[in-house]
Formats: sequence, structure tokens, C-alpha cells
Amino acid sequence: MFGLSITERGHRILREYIRKGDVAVDCTAGHGLDTLFLAECVGEEGAVHAFEIQVKAINELQEKFRENPRVRIHGDSYVNLSKYVSEARLIMYNLGYLPGGDCDLTTKTEETLRSLEQACQLVLPKGVISVVAYPGHPEGAREAAAVEEYLKALPGSVFEVLTLRQTNRSAKTPVQHFVFRNR
Ligand SMILES: C[S@@+](CC[C@H](N)C(=O)[O-])C[C@H]1O[C@@H](n2cnc3c(N)ncnc32)[C@H](O)[C@@H]1O
Repeated sequence: MFGLSITERGHRILREYIRKGDVAVDCTAGHGLDTLFLAECVGEEGAVHAFEIQVKAINELQEKFRENPRVRIHGDSYVNLSKYVSEARLIMYNLGYLPGGDCDLTTKTEETLRSLEQACQLVLPKGVISVVAYPGHPEGAREAAAVEEYLKALPGSVFEVLTLRQTNRSAKTPVQHFVFRNR
């Protein structure tokens, strides 16, 4: 997989685990790149729940997906994930702040952990949670470390956690975790 962005590489891997008709979640929808990917994967019979708290991004998402009834945009925090979703095949987190948006509206460590706990409960067997973390800024470094500690403690009998990182680059480059639910 040469010359791919982290988003493109993640999509190539995740495509294997999602089918037409599935329910999928984008917990940090931003400009909607992951939401669009999920909407294409689940097809017309599926559904995508997209969470976002930044008004500018919510407006952009509503405009982008106006004619796509399978995408449900929730102008609410991913902390409230289980209020809207009871089960899902694929749940995505792209942590940090919105490129070109408000840097203060970055994802927060404690909220991310609370949301991840819910995601682990509602992801279906043979489903996946994907988390991209950005250790390159101060809150991101704390968050990335806490997410990794949380995922390390998941029971190996139920979950398999695979982590992609650029071993020969700076420790500040993004990291992607895939949490596979076996049963
Ligand atoms: C790195 S960006 C996501 C980029 C997005 N995946 C895309 O395709 O453009 C992270 C997003 O998370 C949003 N965010 C921050 N805290 C949030 C929360 N508690 N719930 C939902 N979204 C949140 C930010 O507003 C920002 O848009």
C-alpha cells in the first residue's frame, strides 16, 4: 500500500469487514470523508450514524448528505453513542481536531474512553472498531496513550487489537488501531 494517506489505507482494510445492509457509525464525522466511505459500503439498505459537535462541520455534513437518507447526522457528542445506536458492524473514530476548523474542539481523552466503552458493547461479533489517534499535539498525546492503555486491557477472548504505526518515523505520527470483535 504505497503512497496512501492514513484515511485511504484504513478504508482499504475496513472495506473487507463491512457489507451492504450493515449499520455503521462515524463517531467524529468532521468533513465527512469516513461517513461517505461508510455510506458507499452499506448501500441503500444500510444505515450510517454520523456524530459531530462542531456547528460548521454539522452544517457541511447536512449539506453533503442532504440527498442520502441512509446517513443520519447527530449533532451530538460521541459520548451519547448508545442513545442512538444499539448495534453496528463498523464504528470509526478519527480523533483530534478538524483540519481548517476550531482546534479547541479537539476530542477529549475522558470522553473518548467513555465512548469507546460503549462501542465495545455495541459492535457486533465479526465487527470492527477503528481508532485513528494523533499524538502530535499535547491533548492528542495524552489521548493516544490512554486509548492504547484501554485497548491493551480488552479481553483477548473477545477482541483482537491490531495497531498500525510508522515504526521508522517520529513517534508523533498518527496511529491506527483496529479492534476486531471475535464473538
Ligand atoms: C480529525 S476530525 C475528523 C475528520 C473526519 N473523519 C473527516 O473525514 O473529515 C475530528 C472531529 O471530531 C469532532 N469532535 C470533537 N469532539 C467530539 C465529540 N465529543 N463528539 C463528536 N465529534 C467530536 C471535531 O469537531 C472534529 O470535526
